[in-house]
Amino acid sequence: MHMLASATKSLPLLVACVSAAASYPPVPKDATTPVQQRLAVKGPGSVSVAWNTYQKLTQPCVQYGTSSGALTSQACSSDSTTYPTSRTYSNVVTLTGLSPATTYYYKIVSSNSTIDHFLSPRLPGDKTPFSMNAVIDMGVYGVDGYTIQGDASKRDTIPSIDPSLNHTTIGRLAQTVNDYEFIFHPGDFAYADDWFEKPKNILDGKNAFQAILEQFYIQLAPIASRKPYMASPGNHEAACQEVPLTTGLCPAGQKNFTDFMNRFGHTMPTAFPSTSASNTAKIAANRAQMLAKPPFWYSFEYGMVHVTMIDTETDFANAPDQPGGSAGLNSGPFGTANQQLDFLAADLASVDRSVTPWLIVAGHRPWYTTGSGQCKPCQAAFESVLYKYGVDLAVFGHVHNSQRFLPVNNKVADPKGMNDPKAPMYIVAGGAGNIEGMSDVGANYSTNVFAYADDFSYASISLQDKNHLKVDFIRSSTGQILDSSVLFKSHTQQFVVQ
Ligand SMILES: *[C@@H]1O[C@H](CO)[C@@H](O)[C@H](O)[C@H]1NC(C)=O
Ligand SMILES: *[C@@H]1O[C@H](CO)[C@@H](O)[C@H](O)[C@H]1NC(C)=O
Ligand SMILES: *[C@@H]1O[C@H](CO)[C@@H](O)[C@H](O)[C@H]1NC(C)=O
Ligand SMILES: *[C@@H]1O[C@H](CO)[C@@H](O)[C@H](O)[C@H]1NC(C)=O
Repeated sequence: MHMLASATKSLPLLVACVSAAASYPPVPKDATTPVQQRLAVKGPGSVSVAWNTYQKLTQPCVQYGTSSGALTSQACSSDSTTYPTSRTYSNVVTLTGLSPATTYYYKIVSSNSTIDHFLSPRLPGDKTPFSMNAVIDMGVYGVDGYTIQGDASKRDTIPSIDPSLNHTTIGRLAQTVNDYEFIFHPGDFAYADDWFEKPKNILDGKNAFQAILEQFYIQLAPIASRKPYMASPGNHEAACQEVPLTTGLCPAGQKNFTDFMNRFGHTMPTAFPSTSASNTAKIAANRAQMLAKPPFWYSFEYGMVHVTMIDTETDFANAPDQPGGSAGLNSGPFGTANQQLDFLAADLASVDRSVTPWLIVAGHRPWYTTGSGQCKPCQAAFESVLYKYGVDLAVFGHVHNSQRFLPVNNKVADPKGMNDPKAPMYIVAGGAGNIEGMSDVGANYSTNVFAYADDFSYASISLQDKNHLKVDFIRSSTGQILDSSVLFKSHTQQFVVQ
C-alpha cells in the first residue's frame, strides 16, 4: 500500500533527530556464519538452500543426508553474489536427486553452523493431503518495524526485536511448523523502503534500508530454513522508497528489485517438466519453462497442486511499477514484450488435472478487494486467463487484511458458488503484519463473505483430496481460526479450457 501521507508527515522530524542511525544487526566474528537461511522447491526432487554471509564464499557448500548423524552427501556451487549497498553475500546451493517427501538433514558448511532439516517436495501426482500457508505483506518486527509503540493497528505485545519468534506471525508459523509443508509469499517482504517511518533513520536512509533487510531475513530464518519459502515480487521490493518522484534518487542497489533478485533469483524454480502422458501438455510445459522468469514469474508442482506465481508489478500493459507506471517505481521490465502473459497461458494450459487436480495462482496485487488497493490493470491482464484455464484458487495480498470471496469472474458471482464453480475463488491474505499497519476492511463487495482487519493473520490452505480444498484464516497471535471454507471441485476434465 502507499506511504505518501506518512512520508510527508515524517519530514519535519529531519530537523529534530540528527544523532540516530540505522540499526544493523551485529556482524558475527566468524564471517562464514550463515544468516538469513532460506529454502525453496527448485524442481522435481530438488531444493535450493540459500543463505547470506558477511564475506564472499569461494565455494558455498551444503552437506546433507537422511540421518542427522550421517550427512553423507555434499553439494557445492560458486554462487556467492552481492550488490552495491549490501553488506552481505547471497549464497545458493541446489540439492538434486532427493527422494520425495523424505526428511533430510542438512548443514551449511561453515566453521560456525548447525544441522537443520526439511521435508523434500512431494512428487507431482502424490495425492497425500497436506497444508501450505499463504503469508503476504510481512515486515520487520522491532525498532525499524512494528512494535508495541505506535498506533493500535501496528501494535504487538512484545517490545523487543529478539528473538525473532516474538514476531506474531512468524511465531505462529514456528509453533505450527509441523502442520504445513511450505509457505508462499507473493510480495512485500521486510518493508525496507519504509525506513523513513522511523525518525532515527532520516539521515541514514541508505543504511537503514539494508539494516531492515538484514533484520527481517534473520527473523524469517527459523521458518525459511525449515520449510520451502516461495517468493514473488510486491511493490515494496522495487525501490528504496515508495514515494513517487524520489525513486530516481535511490542509490544503485536500492532500485529495480535489486535485493529481491539477488536474494531469490537463483533459488526459485522455472516451471516443472510435465509428467502428463499428453504430448500437448509436455510441449506447453516446455514452453512455460523457457518463458518463466524466476523469481518474478514461475511455477512448481507439489503433490496434488500446481502453483503458478505471477508478477503484478511489471511486465504487462499498464503494470503499476514499470517506468511510467502509476506507482512511480520505475522498475522492470524483466522479460520481453508479453513474455509473462505467454508464460502464464502456456503454464496453465500444461496442467494435467489427473496429475495435479488443484491449480492455484498467486500474486501480489488483488483485483477483488473490499477496500482500496484494487489493481485494474492486473484484472485486465490476468483475470480472463485464470478463468479460461479453470484456476481453482487465486491468492493475493497488498491490502493488509484477510478477505475471502466467492468464486467470481468478471465481477459476476459463479452461480454454483463453492459447489464446483467454473470461476476461481479469490482470497486476500495480506494481514501478516508490517510497519504500515492494517488496512480497513472497507465497504462491502458483493461476492465477499469474510473480511478481517482486527489483528494479524494469514491463510492456511489444505488440500484434503482431489475434490476438496480448505482455506482457514488464522489469527497469528492466538491461532484462532477466523474463517473456514471448503471449495468442492469435481475436476473431471483432464485439461480445462473454458
Ligand atoms: C556463531 O553463530 C551464532 C549464531 O548462529 C552467532 O551468535 C555467533 O556470534 C557466531 N560466532 C562467531 C564466532 O561468529
Ligand atoms: C518473547 O516472547 C516471550 C513470550 O512469548 C517472552 O517471554 C520473552 O520475554 C520475549 N522476549 C523478548 C526479548 O522480548
Ligand atoms: C531493471 O532490470 C532489468 C533486468 O535486470 C532491466 O532489463 C531493466 O531495464 C531495468 N529497468 C530499469 C528501469 O532500469
Ligand atoms: C457483504 O454482504 C453480503 C451479502 O449482504 C454478506 O453476506 C457478507 O457477510 C458481507 N460481507 C462483509 C465483510 O460484511
